[in-house]
Amino acid sequence: MAQPSDGAQQFLAMTLPSMAAGERCVWAITLGQDGDELIGIIELRADDGVSRDHRGFWIDPAFQRRGLMTEAAERVTQFVFEDLGWTRLWLTNAVDNIGSNRIKEKQGAELIEQIPGDFVSGTGMKALWRLTREAWLARR
Ligand SMILES: CC(C)(COP(=O)(O)OP(=O)(O)OC[C@H]1O[C@@H](n2cnc3c(N)ncnc32)[C@H](O)[C@@H]1OP(=O)(O)O)[C@@H](O)C(=O)NCCC(=O)NCCS
Repeated sequence: MAQPSDGAQQFLAMTLPSMAAGERCVWAITLGQDGDELIGIIELRADDGVSRDHRGFWIDPAFQRRGLMTEAAERVTQFVFEDLGWTRLWLTNAVDNIGSNRIKEKQGAELIEQIPGDFVSGTGMKALWRLTREAWLARR
């Protein structure tokens, strides 16, 4: 699928106001402790009690399949359960997104249902997962 030439700009235009409003946290994934080269992001959306889509992430294809998003997801999940005190996270992904499915499985998430969803690439089936603090702690 063709990528928009202004994708980064669109992302920032959408993200910065919602961060300022306290609706989401977005962490940059960079190379090394002092790195300033952005290779990905992971975000946490505020829990309004209704949304069942609390987390999003992506990483540059050149850096995929190195365990980096597993590491980032673990750190953010620790923040959610240990610092924020949430008891569960709702998570989604396209059903055929093998890497995203696998990260959820490894964290101890339970597949709840598959429902129609809208994606950047169009419509398709979406997997809905629930990760409880208990299940996550049991996997550590
Ligand atoms: C999904 C995504 C974030 C995974 O990031 P990543 O850093 O490559 O993930 P990891 O390296 O931590 O891999 C996690 C697991 O998935 C597996 N995996 C990742 N990509 C895979 C692929 N394309 N095919 C098969 N397995 C894959 C890894 O082998 C690993 O499993 P293991 O620990 O059992 O070996 C990354 O592929 C991505 O950014 N994709 C594009 C955007 C996207 O889909 N975002 C998620 C939307 S819900």
